[in-house]
Amino acid sequence: MRRFLIDTDTASDDAVALVMALRHPDVIVEALTIVCGNVGLDQAVQNALYTVELCGSDVTVHPGARQPLMRTLETAQNVHGEDGMGDCGLELSGRSHAGGRGADVIVDTILGAPGEITLVALGPLTNIAVAYLRAPEIAEAVERVVVMGGTGVHGPGNVSPMAEFNFWADPEAAAIVVESGMPLELVGWDISIENAVVTQERHDTIRALDTPLSAFALSIAQVVRRFALGIGLAGDDLPDPIAMAHAIDPSAAETTRLHVGVMVGDGPQRGVMEVDRFGFSGKEPNLDIVTRYSSDNFFGLLMDSLG
Ligand code: BDR
Ligand code: CA
Repeated sequence: MRRFLIDTDTASDDAVALVMALRHPDVIVEALTIVCGNVGLDQAVQNALYTVELCGSDVTVHPGARQPLMRTLETAQNVHGEDGMGDCGLELSGRSHAGGRGADVIVDTILGAPGEITLVALGPLTNIAVAYLRAPEIAEAVERVVVMGGTGVHGPGNVSPMAEFNFWADPEAAAIVVESGMPLELVGWDISIENAVVTQERHDTIRALDTPLSAFALSIAQVVRRFALGIGLAGDDLPDPIAMAHAIDPSAAETTRLHVGVMVGDGPQRGVMEVDRFGFSGKEPNLDIVTRYSSDNFFGLLMDSLG
């Protein structure tokens, strides 16, 4: 069994990634820590609690950062819906979380099981940066850190020409995490739009499963699907789920090891990944970046989780 700790700004694609982990037979999810991002913190907590309940899981949900480290929160409700879950009429209120502070839960979980925890980061990296600043020794103690963030070696951005939302939303946190020495594996938005697009054919295949979870996955994606079709994709893409697929089964990935920085300026450079493909910076590589993930493998894992 693998032990996952998941940090998430729970909205539509995060929720699908949670289903994949919570329902995988080889994965134990130790806890969910929540960060503001796609939606405000309280909404993200409720969205996570709803998803956990739907999966019949009793994993604990812990609220974390309400704001990015140094910036005002700018959500992605235009992409995921006002409630982050496609505005499809789900009852997303009134459930109780387990308390605690997200960053403390990250520190305690990792230090409580040195070498055993895979941390999966599906939102802005605020909670992870705070956890690292509080206890830098987590960088040595964590087994793997799989991050959905940045735009990989191919670009492009989804919130500005070159920046991806999770890095853009809290670039200072992302800059701290990429330089932390943690064993990072990065799955960027480029991988999502190349290998995880829900085309009409795949949409129909998911619908044909005809289960509560397949209906859930499609309903919560209805706003993001309109957005994605509007920008010219062949369907909505699933960035957090393909990052989760990599966390579950890294054998289907091609990766390269190099140095990446995160730009912390404003305007078009905010949150842009500085990818040193040819070693010009002279800096040691700091992460493994996924350059391709098998679509078949991804959709196989997805279908298994929704069935
Ligand atoms: C990332 O940003 C969010 O909108 C998604 O949940 C995903 O984590 C993609 O850029
Ligand atoms: Ca997310």
